[in-house]
Amino acid sequence: MRKQIAAANWKMNLTFKEAETLLDDILPKTDILKQDQNVIFAVPALYLTMAQNKISKKPNVFVAAQNIYSEETGAFTGEISATMVKSIGVNYVIVGHSERRKYFNESNQFLLEKVKSCLEEGIIPIFCCGENLHVREANEQENFVKMQLEESLFNSVKEEEIEKVIIAYEPIWAIGTGKTASCVEAQEMHFFIREQLTKKWGEAIANNISILYGGSVKASNAKEIFEKPDIDGGLIGGESLIADEFVEIIRALK
Ligand code: PGA
Repeated sequence: MRKQIAAANWKMNLTFKEAETLLDDILPKTDILKQDQNVIFAVPALYLTMAQNKISKKPNVFVAAQNIYSEETGAFTGEISATMVKSIGVNYVIVGHSERRKYFNESNQFLLEKVKSCLEEGIIPIFCCGENLHVREANEQENFVKMQLEESLFNSVKEEEIEKVIIAYEPIWAIGTGKTASCVEAQEMHFFIREQLTKKWGEAIANNISILYGGSVKASNAKEIFEKPDIDGGLIGGESLIADEFVEIIRALK
């Protein structure tokens, strides 16, 4: 059965001390997690080891890197690889967040290389997709997301690998804007994504893949969003930096 997941995306926020305090405030409250519920903290690369040490006794809590480079090793100053991430025991990486696509020009093709690099290391990629406002207004969101999925996942990932991927649908117009997709809009897209997975890999596999929603999820709207049948939790930015808010979001998992 697929997992229900609350994934925190801290982005480029918090000093080391603040990061430690935030984890210390949230972690004791994760004891309420049921067996099929996970919490993931995507922290800045500098804090991965610290976070990994803090979560070590929590069976349903994991740490993620926010990004990797596609190559395994070599002269790529400033980058980190899936191999390096794996070597400190981290098993998740966010791939293709819209901020990486926008500010660092990451293409679907390049993201495919990152996905492959993760899977070769046994790391679970949290693959982000989602359209901008312009695409949504033209009612082209389904074609757009389909192309992202095809070019970065479907065309190259093997059947035995796809179940290891987590997908996050994050409409760009809802990220950090306070504007959330309506539950109906979100569910529609999640249903569409699962339908594409079913067409390509069959129902059993499609039903095993967690599809998270991201974009201004907060304590006050999480329950309503997570209740939808094809929404398996969220990727949460701003509100994951506030302990009480994030704990409420965790409680909203189904
Ligand atoms: P937000 O960010 O919750 O602040 O909208 C979500 C994300 O970018 O992952």
